[in-house]
Amino acid sequence: MTHPRVDALAGEARGAVEAAGSSADLEAVRVRYLGRQGAITQLLRSLGTLPAEERPVVGAAANEAKRELEALLDARLADALAREKSAQRARDRLDLTLPGRRPPLGAVHPLTRVHDEIVSIFGGLGFSVAEGPEIETDFYNFEALNIPRDHPARDMQDTFYLSDDTLLRTHTSPVQIRTMRAAAGRTPVKIIVPGRVFRRDVPDASHSPVFHQVEGLAVDRHITMGDLKGTLELFAREMFGPKSRIRFRPSFFPFTEPSAEVDVLCFMCGGAGCRACKDGWLEILGSGMVHPKVLRNGGYDPEEVTGWAFGMGIDRIAMLKYGVDDLRLFFDNDLRFLRQFS
Ligand code: PHE
Repeated sequence: MTHPRVDALAGEARGAVEAAGSSADLEAVRVRYLGRQGAITQLLRSLGTLPAEERPVVGAAANEAKRELEALLDARLADALAREKSAQRARDRLDLTLPGRRPPLGAVHPLTRVHDEIVSIFGGLGFSVAEGPEIETDFYNFEALNIPRDHPARDMQDTFYLSDDTLLRTHTSPVQIRTMRAAAGRTPVKIIVPGRVFRRDVPDASHSPVFHQVEGLAVDRHITMGDLKGTLELFAREMFGPKSRIRFRPSFFPFTEPSAEVDVLCFMCGGAGCRACKDGWLEILGSGMVHPKVLRNGGYDPEEVTGWAFGMGIDRIAMLKYGVDDLRLFFDNDLRFLRQFS
């Protein structure tokens, strides 16, 4: 059954289907002709307004046009979807022959490396890691360590004071007192204390207002300076190599008696003397037998126990070990510097 008006509409709809390039276009054509407001739908809905003799002819023609258009749209839509899917697959295809991209790997900071190495060497000797606060009281940082009121280290020029009584610790030695008190008279005590310390220094190649120390403390019934010496000799061999040697030089610290500074044979020149060491030796730490007053402040009877302690600078050891001639490089975090340690 045909009818000129319906034929025209059907022809227009077919033309729209031919012109549609994608599944979305085809869907739009469906809506335009067969949707609830679509032209063919409207025509079927308005049959009642036509003269009675026209109704069957237009109705039959419109229903036929509707079926044909539906069939045509279904077929074209299936084609379009298949085409679009394969195009999508082609876009998404992985080229498994491409070489991989290396994931960027960070490096352990040289100060962390030296820190880890020191902790591991002393760990092997039975020392455990202790920590203390960076904000300290005058008592723990100075008083309990037998550093007198008029000692130059207490000067405003050297110490960051937060109040009359609180300050940023100038060394890790206050943790000696804290640890001894926590041990409540028990022996042995064998600890190392890695940590940040603070001094009012203007930054230059060998000074920084923030730097790092590792404190060591051993307290027991009968330990001697010989134990200290043996421990540090072993440490030096592990840290700087089997040929390494150390020497003790008499020195003074208020919290140790006797006190010694320890040098390690320069591993750059082997002791002959070079730019780094001048006389063949490099100073690496301060040490000594714990002063009886300090033992007492820690809750021990100096008649019953003895102790020794040392303090070394992590930053200085890292400079020596890696041949870094400016301390500031450790804190600038310039990737060109840090990448050399990966
Ligand atoms: N606390 C001292 C310093 O900062 C180092 C030290 C620690 C010396 C323990 C002797 C014993 O220089």
